Amino acid sequence: MKMKIARSLAVILTGALLFSGGVMANDSTGNADADHRIAEMKKLGANMGALGKFAKGEVAYSDALIGNAKEVAAIADNLASLFPEGSGVEASRAKPEIWSAEHKAEFDADIARLQAASDQLVVAVESGNADAIGAALKETGGACGTCHKQFRKPKD
Ligand code: HEC
Repeated sequence: MKMKIARSLAVILTGALLFSGGVMANDSTGNADADHRIAEMKKLGANMGALGKFAKGEVAYSDALIGNAKEVAAIADNLASLFPEGSGVEASRAKPEIWSAEHKAEFDADIARLQAASDQLVVAVESGNADAIGAALKETGGACGTCHKQFRKPKD
């Protein structure tokens, strides 16, 4: 069971890390809001990557992991503010649907799912229980993926 969670996690996290190569350090979309959003998304990726290393058994448990989970939860709480009107510029991978009335409910639900999952992630990481952490990480990674699938443009 533990191995199964670890393996599916590896798949999710490899995906998250691959995506982090999208915009190079010096690349700007030409829109400050989009650049800020991308920087925050990268932080999500980095924190999830650190937690994934623990889930895969590559690093031992430490209190730093609690900080990683808390940063994910803090960014999740702030996520809606990262998508101001007008920030869906060409060079951004945010799809225009994010700002359409038709899809607003789905987008908001994706944010809420990440908020709930990352709150659970903090609780799980604080407990130090590896199975609980693995399960919470999987749910959180799933929440990232749901939104990306619908609302993020594929890479060029
Ligand atoms: C509600 C939707 C949504 C959620 C939830 C979400 N993302 Fe994103 N993410 C996006 C969008 C949209 C983009 C494209 C942003 C842009 O290019 O302007 C993106 C881009 C990214 C990028 C690429 C940044 C780059 O280098 O271009 C990474 C990495 C990323 N997200 C990680 C995560 C992780 C990890 C989570 C979960 C902890 C997550 N995201 C949750 C919508 C979301």
